[in-house]
Amino acid sequence: MRQIALTFLLVLTSFGVQASGGKSCGQIDCYEFEADLQDAASMQRGAATFVNYCMGCHEAGYSRYERVATDLGIPPEMVEANLIFDDTRIGDLMVNAMPESDSKRWFGVAPPDLTLVARARGADWLYTYLLTFYEDPDRPWGVNNLTFKDVAMPNVMFELQGGQKCLPGGDGDHGACGHIEHIADTGRQSPEEFEQTVRDLSNFMTYMAEPAALERKRLGVYVMFFLALFMVFAWLLNREYWKDVH
Ligand code: HEC
Repeated sequence: MRQIALTFLLVLTSFGVQASGGKSCGQIDCYEFEADLQDAASMQRGAATFVNYCMGCHEAGYSRYERVATDLGIPPEMVEANLIFDDTRIGDLMVNAMPESDSKRWFGVAPPDLTLVARARGADWLYTYLLTFYEDPDRPWGVNNLTFKDVAMPNVMFELQGGQKCLPGGDGDHGACGHIEHIADTGRQSPEEFEQTVRDLSNFMTYMAEPAALERKRLGVYVMFFLALFMVFAWLLNREYWKDVH
């Protein structure tokens, strides 16, 4: 009985830990986000966004195009046609040609390598960061970010998202802003579509930060299956051993 109570308690506390959330993302609480590594289509779209919108400045220098293609089920010719734009080969690392000295001069800081950022910062941090750029005329690029105050990165997906304005009022939990609001008629995507773009990108970057997680989940199913099967035999064997004792 005590064991059952103890197990129950353990289960309860682990739920408690999960539910307590409320992690801080700069000036605000992180938006709720959990990466979905089962959704290959989403991660494929995310990979395309990453190459198109991020790799102009950032690298993913611990990642190879080929591994990404294999893991996400993208045919190699598709990678060469849609994700690689110069004479890079599919077996190469995902690096760019921007010399660090130039990027330091342009941005004040060199854009960091992004291979592991989803793991270092957390997927929810990344997701929140990408959604919380807002217009701030006092900053060099005209934008600031609620998750990363005074960030040196421009809002590179402006053409998709459009702008966001900082307005007083609202729920009041937006740090420097009361709340942020999409500026009407800016951006090619609606706020819902852009949220999906960021979701896809965050899924991809979470995969990239730990490619082994995909394999582990696939393997996990087999392990559970094996354990279930093994339990049947263990039970049968146990019954056989004790048959004459009772
Ligand atoms: C025009 C160049 C440029 C592009 C394009 C760009 N970034 Fe950045 N990014 C920067 C710079 C510069 C920084 C450093 C900001 C700082 O430290 O203030 C940065 C910082 C970041 C950080 C914070 C890293 C950390 O942990 O400190 C993340 C995350 C990030 N970028 C993601 C992205 C993503 C995702 C994309 C593509 C959608 C992207 N960036 C495209 C210039 C760029």
